[in-house]
Amino acid sequence: MVSRVIPVDPFDLVIFGGTGDLARRKILPGLFRRFKAGQIPEDSRIIGASRSDLSDDDYRRFTKEAIEEFIPEDERRNSPLDKFLDCLHFVTIDATGEAGWQQLSDKMRDNVVNAFYFSVAPSLFGALAERLHTYGIADAKTRIVVEKPFGRDLESARALNATLAEHFKETQIYRIDHYLGKETVQNLMAVRFANVLFEPLWNAQYVDHIQITVAETVGVGGRGAYYDKSGAMRDMVQNHLMQLLCLIAMEPPSRFDPDSVRDEKLKVIRALEPVQPYHIVRGQYDAEGDAPSYRQDAENPRSLTESFIALRVHVSNWRWAGTPFFLRTGKRLKARTSEIAVVFKDAPHSIFGQEAGTHRNILTIRLQPNEGMTLGVTIKEPGPGGMRLIDVPLDMTFADALPQEAEDVHDAYERLIMDVIRGNQTLFMRGDEVEAAWAWTDPIIDGWESRGEAPKPYEPGTAGPEDAMMLMMREGRKWREIKE
Ligand code: BG6
Repeated sequence: MVSRVIPVDPFDLVIFGGTGDLARRKILPGLFRRFKAGQIPEDSRIIGASRSDLSDDDYRRFTKEAIEEFIPEDERRNSPLDKFLDCLHFVTIDATGEAGWQQLSDKMRDNVVNAFYFSVAPSLFGALAERLHTYGIADAKTRIVVEKPFGRDLESARALNATLAEHFKETQIYRIDHYLGKETVQNLMAVRFANVLFEPLWNAQYVDHIQITVAETVGVGGRGAYYDKSGAMRDMVQNHLMQLLCLIAMEPPSRFDPDSVRDEKLKVIRALEPVQPYHIVRGQYDAEGDAPSYRQDAENPRSLTESFIALRVHVSNWRWAGTPFFLRTGKRLKARTSEIAVVFKDAPHSIFGQEAGTHRNILTIRLQPNEGMTLGVTIKEPGPGGMRLIDVPLDMTFADALPQEAEDVHDAYERLIMDVIRGNQTLFMRGDEVEAAWAWTDPIIDGWESRGEAPKPYEPGTAGPEDAMMLMMREGRKWREIKE
């Protein structure tokens, strides 16, 4: 296969929080994979920065261990691991003090792209941004990457945006939502905007409803302290599910450029109606056998935080008037699966009579696992026995349809970091988008907090609380099964 990997320009990437969990699990292994694919020039530098007292060699060892832990052995065999490790450097730095900053400044080169990944608590963003300027490390071409959580409500998100804006222009700020880097999420835009087939049907006239499910089997053990202050609404809906909803619901942008795409997404968020309390179901997982309950995981016996949420949402515009969007996400559910299902309306008139039953076309976009798309179509069951109708899938599982390309599917972080180096903000959230998302989320959270509502307990390994089923059943609709 001819490689379609286009190398990026040489760069200096500084990872603040370079010894943290995200660096170990995602950023460093992801960079290694791009290096191995030939996308990262050998004269690029990756500079870990944190309070740890490490030498360059210590950091190379740290990175090697991370790669061995998170990249399968067959992918590492005969790989240029040593060459990659040569790109790594380390600076011990005090984010809120002065130690290490001059050393960092000395290490940076003027003639390459420079980017700074803020993989640290948001409370440090201001201190980092300020020092990057004081020490003359950042200039007008510098890019900074910031991780979620981007605030915990509108007010804190505004404050963060204002802090960053003191030192950087919006075009320099890359707010990561890793869901936007997932292969199928981008494919969603290709399917919608590069085919004539779907767009005429993509509206309230033909679409009965849309379901977005992000189900996980893991609990919150290990990160209970963070999660308990956040909950599924802040941790998943305000960002990941909202982004998926935007891509499904938005109008076609006139060009595939960062601001055209983000302008359209912003319009969707602004068109979201407030959600009525009876259109929200919150849940919290129980204990099961030896597995702890949410409250045990969170070490908070009276926690009212939700580990599951289902919502019925409306996008108030001409395209979607009357078509509900059902969103749900949760921990410790039946299977790990993320999918979007566009459920089309019944045919206006059934010529085959009642016994043929009702059949609906459903376009399913699977983000994980087995990335791909399936369109359910109704056909005649083969053989004798009259006109019996069955639903069959037109299946495009990427790994089957495009085996070689599927191997080349990047982890979301790989793609997004390369986009930062390329200077492409299309798959990053703009400041006004994040604020609009919080502006919609805040009253929902305030509502249940002021009512003192407790989430409904649910059994692990299920599809969440029974009430979530009822959210759809009471209007004659049904969630799709959660399965891998
Ligand atoms: C993160 C959330 O942003 O996304 C986690 O904080 C969640 O709680 C994770 O588990 C899910 O990401 P993915 O890519 O595994 O679906």
